[in-house]
Amino acid sequence: MTRFCDLHCHILYGVDDGAQTVEEARALIDGAYRSGTRTICFTPHYNPLRELQSAGAEETFRTFSAELKEKYPDLTLCLGAEILYHQRIAASLARGACRPLNGTRYLLIEFLPDDDGAYIVSSLEGILASGYTPILAHAERYNSFLRRPKLALELAEKDIPIQLNVRSVTGGNGKKVKKFCHKLLKKGVVAAIASDAHDPEYSDAKLDEGYREVFHRFGEDYADTLFWKMPRALLGLDEND
Ligand SMILES: [Fe+2]
Repeated sequence: MTRFCDLHCHILYGVDDGAQTVEEARALIDGAYRSGTRTICFTPHYNPLRELQSAGAEETFRTFSAELKEKYPDLTLCLGAEILYHQRIAASLARGACRPLNGTRYLLIEFLPDDDGAYIVSSLEGILASGYTPILAHAERYNSFLRRPKLALELAEKDIPIQLNVRSVTGGNGKKVKKFCHKLLKKGVVAAIASDAHDPEYSDAKLDEGYREVFHRFGEDYADTLFWKMPRALLGLDEND
């Protein structure tokens, strides 16, 4: 069976703008599991201006993981964060306000859609120099990157992993965005495709559809790399269980 690893989602309930209740979170997990997802990293938003909201993620993670272990013994769950870039990430990490992915040295970093391309690249370089490896969340969401896809190539040359949202790859966010994603896929500069799931209504955030699209366009090995091997590696997990 084809398995998927989702390294970016907002399924952990009550800690950000994703699932609000345990019922919503269960619905998202059930849907992901049915479509083949076997590893999930919860990545609640971390915005330094709204720090209180993300408090309590560890405790909710422990409670929810214990429940899900009973229902889905072969589902691996981890905790991380999607960190809105700010100047004092090191201090936020040090006091436990946000965290790397699954205890690794990888940080999932997002920017604002209109942030300047050169600013995004130099900020990520700064994180790299500090001893962490940033992963750029949903590269297709930044207007500067859509205008200049070469920025993504620059990041790949510096070994900064790029993540795309599955909905963008399959066309759910429009033709222009899909074209950009496919350009990056063709260049081989994408490290992982993830759901960024927030809401059970978004059934098109499922990884199986994206997997089929990449399989069809670029082949099975590439699809397996983007939907399982690389995201597992970024979470510090072996390719096999
Ligand atoms: Fe996200």
